[in-house]
Amino acid sequence: MTSSQDSWQPVCTVSDLTPGKFVEFRLREKAREPEGMPLTGFLFLDGTTPRGYLNICPHLGVELNWMPGRFMDSDNLFIQCSTHGALFKPADGECIAGPCQGDALTELDLRQRKGQIEIRLPE
Ligand code: FES
Repeated sequence: MTSSQDSWQPVCTVSDLTPGKFVEFRLREKAREPEGMPLTGFLFLDGTTPRGYLNICPHLGVELNWMPGRFMDSDNLFIQCSTHGALFKPADGECIAGPCQGDALTELDLRQRKGQIEIRLPE
């Protein structure tokens, strides 16, 4: 059995996260529902704060972006789902417009260790 200590996964170096850049990755952990599905996520800087979410729209469970590294709306204010246009607040992932309004992206736990940003699924 894997302890939560072991479930941290290094994704990129702190210096890889530059303003406006989205770093995409595949999680080592698989989805519990539906079981065994691969999970992907993304990291970015919200101002100066690193944040990470699963790349899953709460509406239909599809990935948010249709182009690598492109997650923001045209005004560069909100994360936008490319399928039906739902808008999410970068700071907490809350959907503020679209078919899943009131729902939210799944935020990943983040920590910095030895110059790396590591992520894990929330408990
Ligand atoms: S799948 Fe994302 S808004 Fe519909």
